[in-house]
Amino acid sequence: MKIAIGADHAGFRLKDELVGYIESLGHQVADMGYNSTDSVDYPDYAIAVCDQVVSGQADKGILVCGTGIGMTIAANKVPGIRCALVHDLFSAKATREHNDTNVLAMGERVIGPGVAQEIVKVWLETEFSQGERHQNRINKVKALEDKYSLHP
Ligand code: RB5
Repeated sequence: MKIAIGADHAGFRLKDELVGYIESLGHQVADMGYNSTDSVDYPDYAIAVCDQVVSGQADKGILVCGTGIGMTIAANKVPGIRCALVHDLFSAKATREHNDTNVLAMGERVIGPGVAQEIVKVWLETEFSQGERHQNRINKVKALEDKYSLHP
């Protein structure tokens, strides 16, 4: 798969560690930045990654900020993005099976690189369960997106 990854100043160290790890799993990585401790705004990097995903240039996206929360909020504003904030292995698996998430967010100030790598591996390797009830729920989320979008 091609994975787009991005971070702000509070997440770029974990992001940089994940790039090599994701490549070692056999995936291609598009690193959308950031690469410094100078303060930047997380929505700018959330959009850079989400744009890669909704345009089809990347299969999935990964976002890292201090908590992962700002990235998650920003990413879920983009129609077509289903972003989950994940800091444990159970959620990494469940959010692929139930929510078919296409973007994963994590917080560098919350978890260490070892746990983050395990989460990324499980999230990338778990397929959507294809269950009818899960698809119905995703369709309802999509309907909300259409209803409230200014540009449906
Ligand atoms: C940056 O200080 C921090 O607010 C940001 O990385 C993120 O945690 C926001 O949700």
